[in-house]
Amino acid sequence: MSPLWDLQKTYADRVKAMLHDRLGRAPRACVRTFGCQQNEADSQRIEGMLSQMGYSFTGNPEEADLIIFNTCAVRENAEDRVFGNVGELKRQKEKNPELIIGLCGCMVQQPHITKRIQKSFPYVDLVFGTHALASLPELLFQKLQSRRRVFDIHESDGEIVEGLPVRRVDGVKAWVPIMYGCNNFCTYCIVPYVRGRERSREPEAILEEIKQLTANGVKEITLLGQNVNSYGKNLERPLSFAGLLEQIDALPGDFRIRFMTSHPKDCTRELIDAIARCQKVCRHIHLPVQSGSSRVLSAMNRHYTREQYVDLIRYAREKIPGVSFTSDILVGFPGETYEEFLETLSLVQEIEYDSLFTFIYSKREGTRAAQMEDPVPYAEKSAWLRQIIAAQEDIASRRHEALVGETLRVLVEGAGKHPGTVQGRSDQNIIVEFPGEESLFGSFANVKIERAANWAVFGTREE
Ligand code: 5AD
Ligand code: SF4
Repeated sequence: MSPLWDLQKTYADRVKAMLHDRLGRAPRACVRTFGCQQNEADSQRIEGMLSQMGYSFTGNPEEADLIIFNTCAVRENAEDRVFGNVGELKRQKEKNPELIIGLCGCMVQQPHITKRIQKSFPYVDLVFGTHALASLPELLFQKLQSRRRVFDIHESDGEIVEGLPVRRVDGVKAWVPIMYGCNNFCTYCIVPYVRGRERSREPEAILEEIKQLTANGVKEITLLGQNVNSYGKNLERPLSFAGLLEQIDALPGDFRIRFMTSHPKDCTRELIDAIARCQKVCRHIHLPVQSGSSRVLSAMNRHYTREQYVDLIRYAREKIPGVSFTSDILVGFPGETYEEFLETLSLVQEIEYDSLFTFIYSKREGTRAAQMEDPVPYAEKSAWLRQIIAAQEDIASRRHEALVGETLRVLVEGAGKHPGTVQGRSDQNIIVEFPGEESLFGSFANVKIERAANWAVFGTREE
């Protein structure tokens, strides 16, 4: 347990007592999360701390005494959505001046955003950045005591605070952060500026958390980090990501292990070999390529070429039969030409991913790419994006077709799209739907695949 959290617990108790006096009932919080899985994991910690302060939870902001938006800074449209949503809260605050509105996460870690909140959104009470997350009880205490606005967006090398309470609603799947921050400075990306330098959790803390989760029935663990392949480099007793995976794989219990995100430059053959050896690690690697042009990759500061990336995929496919790849694609990087875009399209066709996350470049203040000439109009970039998406739909349909006749092991997550069906994912992360009952939720089932679409495959359960 970290001393910081010990101190925060005392604030949590004081907040709980103050709120009880003021409201005469349990306070209600509404936490909304934007962006990536790391943010989802952070929100579970925010909710864990709020539980400790006596809060219950509601999805309806109108019913809440405290609203927190955990924000994302990766693209402009995510930021616009947050500002839109905050704008809508103004009337609610006028009706209920006791309402506390908080903003946290990557977006508010940027000074120009904080200034804008200070000036244009006077009804936002509490603003805390990524490094201040574990101080939430203290910040809320300050807010309740002084009624003044509270801002904490200090920079930090990032202490890791262990022992924060976590509120998990899903009993089947769990996120487990293994490292925080990013050192890569891809030229388009704001993450290294808002989440600070890479730092890894101690393996003992990670293993302990996973042991507890699986003992409580969790069946799927997703290890999280901006670049999991560089896990462990800054530990006192360095341990590679491959080493960590093998230690987790050796834990007892019937569960599976996923991880994201892998950076191709740090995805070593040692890691591929380890995945091949592990029993519980899923045969799926999310390996964002961003672009198929070596010239653009270099301008992005990605530290690999198209050829190196293709070689890595080839090696993995040899060593891990049936391994599935997914990727992030960024089109319209400043200065990218149509011919270079076509190289990305041809790479997508060559690799045959199972699915893709596709994005149009969004200029981020403070990054190196923001200084670069960007002559291609947005409409043209949108047309490029549509071409990639259309190509990927065909590829996914074909790859799914090829699964007909195979039996896949599926972790059942919930109801399917069609009445009387359930759905889950195979270890390659493919969505599988089949006739079944609610009693199957949270268990593994073997499903013989009979039919395919571009978003899922369909089959029947084998006994
Ligand atoms: N514009 C658009 N997409 C971006 N990403 C990161 N930065 C930007 C940006 N400025 C994408 C990358 C990354 C994913 C998480 O978000 O593809 O892999
Ligand atoms: Fe951003 Fe690159 Fe770090 Fe990923 S690896 S978070 S894209 S800087």
